[in-house]
Amino acid sequence: MNIVVLGSAAGGGFPQWNCNCRNCAGLRNGTVRATARTQSSIAVSSNGTDWVLINASPDILAQIRATPALQPARARRDSGIAAVMLMDAQIDHVAGLLMLREGKELPLYCTAPVWRELNGALPLVPVLSHYCGVRWHALSMEGGVRVPGIDGIRFTPLALASKAPPYSDHREHPEAGDNIGLLIEDVGTGKSAFYAPGLGAIDPRVEAAMRKADCVLVDGTFWDADEMIAPGLSGKTAADMGHLPQSGEGGMIAVLDGIGTRRKVLIHINNTNPILDEDAEQRAVLARHGIEVAFDGMEIAL
Ligand code: MLT
Ligand code: MN
Ligand code: ZN
Repeated sequence: MNIVVLGSAAGGGFPQWNCNCRNCAGLRNGTVRATARTQSSIAVSSNGTDWVLINASPDILAQIRATPALQPARARRDSGIAAVMLMDAQIDHVAGLLMLREGKELPLYCTAPVWRELNGALPLVPVLSHYCGVRWHALSMEGGVRVPGIDGIRFTPLALASKAPPYSDHREHPEAGDNIGLLIEDVGTGKSAFYAPGLGAIDPRVEAAMRKADCVLVDGTFWDADEMIAPGLSGKTAADMGHLPQSGEGGMIAVLDGIGTRRKVLIHINNTNPILDEDAEQRAVLARHGIEVAFDGMEIAL
């Protein structure tokens, strides 16, 4: 199977339109060695032509332009996007659905809580019913799904401890399925990847999925728990936003150290995270732990 990282940044992207943090300002004025990144999405295929879009980023049109594989020309109107699968109902993962409105009816795989948000607090589904329309395929924690056209790949959701979106009526009372991770398995070869862009805490099920996978693509949002607070950008900690920071005791680096020697990639990286600076000490720390930093266009073949 093939995985392409379409967008490796968290909400806001990098640089963020209104941000003058060290990274965003430094990227703009050339004083920080770093690469711009679009908002969070990957695509998965078994044949290189038909893809599941996992998360529909606000930057989807730029991502499609940058990814020729998503633009086959088999008919006058055509797309390599066979279906969309969502990890949560956050803006950075769903706003791109609106940009797919010119296409055919959209097969959408998401959990019941995410489907409810998209019909309620953030009503993209009712809006899209006036354009392409959306057909819901429920993701449940009871087992994996197959997506027509993506032969030989099983997608198994795993409920994660994270946060419902700020506009959810249960932001402070999370339900199973507000956020999921995904075990993506090639049933023919037995190879697998675990994808979890928003991961607030590791429990034994998540750790088992990470151990099982040949490649993990996991929450790289923040280096520090108070990364947004220290420079006065926000009053929220990483935990308030449902993200496990990389540094510190029990942080993501320690978690990844514990799962063995497979391929480890941080994804959904916030623009404030020092790991975006290729010359930063924190980037060298990751390298010493064998941890990669996802970038837009990164291809992973398993
Ligand atoms: C998050 O995952 O916390 C988001 O990236 C926030 C956002 O989209 O603004
Ligand atoms: Mn996000
Ligand atoms: Zn910034």
